[in-house]
Order: sequence, then structure tokens, then C-alpha cells
Amino acid sequence: MRLSIQTILSIIIVTLSSGINSSKCRDGVHNVITVDSYGNETLPVEIRNIRIHVYDHDMKPSCYKRKVNVVMPGWFVIKSGEVDTSRDFDVVKDGAVSVSVALDGDHICLNGHSDMFIVPESLCNFEMSSFFPVDICKTLQQKGLHTLKELETKNAFNATLELPASPSFLGISLLDVMKGNYRIKISIASEGKKIVEFALPTGYTDLKMGLNEKDDED
Ligand SMILES: *[C@@H]1O[C@H](CO)[C@@H](O)[C@H](O)[C@H]1NC(C)=O
Ligand SMILES: *[C@@H]1O[C@H](CO)[C@@H](O)[C@H](O)[C@H]1NC(C)=O
Ligand SMILES: *[C@@H]1O[C@H](CO)[C@@H](O)[C@H](O)[C@H]1NC(C)=O
Repeated sequence: MRLSIQTILSIIIVTLSSGINSSKCRDGVHNVITVDSYGNETLPVEIRNIRIHVYDHDMKPSCYKRKVNVVMPGWFVIKSGEVDTSRDFDVVKDGAVSVSVALDGDHICLNGHSDMFIVPESLCNFEMSSFFPVDICKTLQQKGLHTLKELETKNAFNATLELPASPSFLGISLLDVMKGNYRIKISIASEGKKIVEFALPTGYTDLKMGLNEKDDED
């Protein structure tokens, strides 16, 4: 078979452009985190189909090797999501948040308790109302199927959330030191009973944080 110049050229173009595509972090495709309820227990509150698009400080889609990568400072834009609350709760008065966080397989917090001596307990468990806006809690804790739209209209919730710069110590960004693959799971209890548990991302799988492809080029 004789290859024509055109064929060779089109092969080169396709190869080049697929190379470009493969390194690109496409908005809404690669920079997406989903959040859903985790575990096989039936709990009274269920979280479904939360989709978050992740951006860097300059509002560019944020990836590391085409996987979503959370950087600080940066942006989260929540695109959708629902919370199904089967009866009324009062998490503003009594909502105990327990966090599990692991970095590259090491637990930082495990089921609401610090698993590293430099990490204070207060980072792993805290009251709902000390962290989440009270008006948002008040909407979500009412029986019903709640949507992002509802929060936007009822609570003037702004789904574009700014992630602050990472805390730093002696001029060193904590996230620079603690970059890697995170696993994050959160459960909330009210009156001593677990009412919801969810993982970020869905399924308690790895979430890249603080990585930078430029760091690899040495
Ligand atoms: C690269 O991505 C663009 C935009 O999605 C698409 O139209 C094009 O077909 C892709 N090219 C290759 C070679 O995959
Ligand atoms: C629920 O999950 C736990 C932990 O993965 C497992 O041990 C248990 O057997 C599961 N229960 C059911 C009913 O699937
Ligand atoms: C939401 O917040 C972003 C970033 O702070 C801002 O640019 C935008 O104007 C806000 N949107 C509304 C509707 O207030």
C-alpha cells in the first residue's frame, strides 16, 4: 500500500491532536468531583448526585494527569445535587460531624477522632452549626427532597465557592507538604444517632489535592 502525503499528514495531525487532548483537563469532564451517600446502611438522610467542578485560583479547570485535583486557593462550583430528608431534624441545635480523612493511606482522622498526634480532635469532630451556614442547615434538615435550585432561590446560596489559601506554617504551605491522594468521609449524627454519611468523592475513593504537574518536570 502506498501512503499518500495526505494520509501521512492526517495521521500526524490526528496523533498530535490526540496528544493535546490527552493532556488537557477538560472542563466538566476531568475536573469533576461527585458526592453521594456512602455505605449500605439505610439512613434517614440521603445525599445524591452532587457534582462539583474544580478550578484553580485563575478559574482554570484543575487536574493532575487528567484527574481532578483540588488546589488552594481555588474554586469549587457546585453544579447539581440533592438531599433527601425523610423526617425533620434539628442539626442546628444538635448535629455532630465526624470526619475520616486519610492521606496516601495514613489516617489523619478516623471516625471523628484524631489519628495523628499533631492533629487536634477539633479538626475531626465538631458541631454542624460551627461549620455550615445555619440557614442552609435549616433548609436541609426539613423533611423533603432538597435541590441545589432550592438553596439558590430560598437561601440565595452561591454555588461558586472560593477555597482559601492553604494554612501555612513558617511560610510553608501545609498543602504543599500534605499533597497527595486523600480519602474523605463525613458522617453526621443527631441525638446520638447517625443520620447521614457521605464520601467525597463518591465511594470513598482517592481525591488528589495540592499536586502540580510542573513539580514533576525535574
Ligand atoms: C479532541 O477534542 C475535541 C473536543 O472535544 C474533539 O472534537 C476531537 O475529536 C478530539 N480529537 C481527538 C483526536 O481525539
Ligand atoms: C455492609 O457493609 C459492611 C462493610 O463493608 C459489610 O460488612 C456488611 O456485610 C454489609 N451489609 C450488608 C447487608 O450488605
Ligand atoms: C457568587 O460568587 C462569585 C465569587 O465570589 C461571584 O463572582 C458571583 O458574582 C456570585 N454570584 C452571585 C449571583 O452573587
